[in-house]
Amino acid sequence: MCSDSKFGTEVLGIDDYSLSLAKKYISSGELVAFPTETVYGLGANATDGAAIKKIFAAKGRPQDNPLIVHLHKDYDVDKLVEVEYDYVYKLREKFLPGPLTMVYKSKGIVSKVATCGLETVGIRIPRSEAAQKFLRAVDMPIAAPSANVSKHTSPVTAAHVFDDLSGKIPLILDGGKCDGGIESTVLDVTHEVPVILRSGLITCEMIKEAVGECEYSDGSDKKVRSPGTKYAHYMPRSETALYRRDDIKGAQEAYDEAVKSGKRAYFMCDEEIGKLLHGNILNLGKTAEEIASNLYYRLLEGEKIADIIIAFDVETGSDIDTGIMNRLEKACKRAD
Ligand code: TXA
Ligand code: MG
Repeated sequence: MCSDSKFGTEVLGIDDYSLSLAKKYISSGELVAFPTETVYGLGANATDGAAIKKIFAAKGRPQDNPLIVHLHKDYDVDKLVEVEYDYVYKLREKFLPGPLTMVYKSKGIVSKVATCGLETVGIRIPRSEAAQKFLRAVDMPIAAPSANVSKHTSPVTAAHVFDDLSGKIPLILDGGKCDGGIESTVLDVTHEVPVILRSGLITCEMIKEAVGECEYSDGSDKKVRSPGTKYAHYMPRSETALYRRDDIKGAQEAYDEAVKSGKRAYFMCDEEIGKLLHGNILNLGKTAEEIASNLYYRLLEGEKIADIIIAFDVETGSDIDTGIMNRLEKACKRAD
């Protein structure tokens, strides 16, 4: 362990002992990493400014990128936020608990350190049983970004969290691999029409189907409304190159070239493209859900075994492709 380590970080399965330890740490202003159905989160008491500052320090996160707040499913959300439009109730009924974060007008109970001084706050009620156990055990609002160092690929196993944050936090709750694989959809519900600030597994189409309307701000009109989306993100520590699906030849040439120059090269692609390539493959799977679930896992596997990861655009025809491509384009450098 490096000499500036403050903690001998413990990784513990979720049981009564680890949950009571988590409660002890959170109550005394320390950080605990925990699993959700999307990625691992790095949590602190959302009403304790000093504790939240430790999240920004541990991650090296920019000071103007607000944190979302996690609640267990029986917590009274309306203690923390104001509901301005009735469609919110429909969304809650349809999608929560689940991978949907809604940005509301804050009542000011959540620390301004978490919201970076904004009048709004993002609230997430995760579906995962492990996250619910943790949130119920601590029984307080938990501010939590993804549990990685800033800019790096988000963690989907406790080992990934350990690799990034060992020595910086006292406890990681291990709930196995997160199956959602990409972060929650962030939806601004402070306007007459809900606006997607970051796409995820709850898609624009699904929201439209539930409440009639939904706007899409995180790619289609290039407006940056979610402060976090303007930063470099999700990058593995290997060199990367992102190819278009119709440029199999270019990608294969780049792979062969890399191998010739002594580099360990890997393709990262879905099954369909994989059949057309010759070489090592980090397989993302077939459906959009599988690909989302495998994306960070494969990137983090790749950075350990590859000098260069040669990736391909994803196009399954599902609305979830938008969320996947949003991550892939930030994680990987375009080849052309
Ligand atoms: O799935 C997830 O959402 C994971 C797990 C741990 O729950 N958490 C996560 O948090 O991805 P984070 O901090 O990495 O991303 C939160 C996103 C950022 O893009 C941030 O800028 C945006 O939500 N956000 C947070 N509060 C906001 C607010 N009040 N207004 C607009 N955007 C906000
Ligand atoms: Mg993140």
